[in-house]
Amino acid sequence: MSSSKIFITRNLPTNLDALRQIASVEVWPEREPPPYQVLLEKVKDIDGLLCLLTDQIDPHLMEVGANLKVISQMAVGYDNIDIPAATVRRLPVGHTPGVLTNATADLTWALLMAAARRVVEADQFTRSGQWTTWEPDLLLGPDVSGATLGIVGLGRIGQAVARRASGFDMKILYANRTPCSLEVEEALGAEFVELDDLLQKSDFVTIHTPLSEETRHLFGQAQFDQMKPTAILINTARGPIVDPEALYNALTNGQIAGAALDVTDPEPIPMDSALLSLSNLIVTPHIGSASRQARGKMADMAIANLLAGLKGDRLPHCVNPEVYQ
Ligand code: NAP
Ligand code: GLV
Repeated sequence: MSSSKIFITRNLPTNLDALRQIASVEVWPEREPPPYQVLLEKVKDIDGLLCLLTDQIDPHLMEVGANLKVISQMAVGYDNIDIPAATVRRLPVGHTPGVLTNATADLTWALLMAAARRVVEADQFTRSGQWTTWEPDLLLGPDVSGATLGIVGLGRIGQAVARRASGFDMKILYANRTPCSLEVEEALGAEFVELDDLLQKSDFVTIHTPLSEETRHLFGQAQFDQMKPTAILINTARGPIVDPEALYNALTNGQIAGAALDVTDPEPIPMDSALLSLSNLIVTPHIGSASRQARGKMADMAIANLLAGLKGDRLPHCVNPEVYQ
């Protein structure tokens, strides 16, 4: 292992000294990710790759990286990696679940509150000198307390959002492929419903599923048609779960009242996107897990997965444990 070669696709918010003692480590120093062609060159003779969600890890890259023993991603989502292709090659893939759950739920809650109470519009109103008096109907929004929250994907982050909602006396509905245990439902006061039912009844809808072939464009015109005209959509999961054109139409023709996105399709959102012209939309640059503590723990967990893979040990957080069968 002392002769192991590692490539890390960006500077990480943690100390790499321990790693450098046992391996030769190259870190991509730029702010932007390495271009795909550069990544292909880098993987040629490395044993371990530590990558981010901005890196495209496809079958060709795995073929070129014939010496790879492990791929470790510093993120919980791994839709940028072709997992079946890694599994066929018996290549373990690591990710970082749990340590970013609260940070991402906090950002979700910040977006929900900001969209409901029009915080971004209000800030712009103030800075542009329009605040001349107190007005009875200035920048009104819906109540959050007592409203119905629909959670699509009641996993780690969805459940953490539900815990925040319970402090606001919200009624909680959720849609998963399979219902959670009764114990979880009771602890959260959450009711399992079909997606259509959730869309029709919710004042706020928040998305927390992974991106998969099943969830790509899960939100399109047919789904917005079913939502309340007063509803607000929050997406902190993955951009392509929402069809951006259908979202633009829904926000401009009154199918829904507002939306807040931490993730877009594509990322970054193009500056000429029609969505950016809308005052009933908030967009943040994929910062769900961006608390100092969460990002530090994600980096440490990604390194732990990498080290285990180099040693031939089972990864502590493996996406494709079938490789060990
Ligand atoms: P998780 O614990 O695996 O939860 C995912 C939930 O989605 C599960 O409850 C799952 O339940 C449900 N689900 C999966 N497919 C579904 C479908 N087709 N329809 C309805 N529900 C479905 O994952 P997590 O840790 O909460 O993370 C969720 C996602 O958030 C990640 O995959 C990542 O893409 C995103 N994320 C974004 C940020 C950010 O910075 N914005 C940060 C962290 C994570 P069933 O399998 O029973 O359906
Ligand atoms: C961030 O988006 C993650 O999946 O960790």
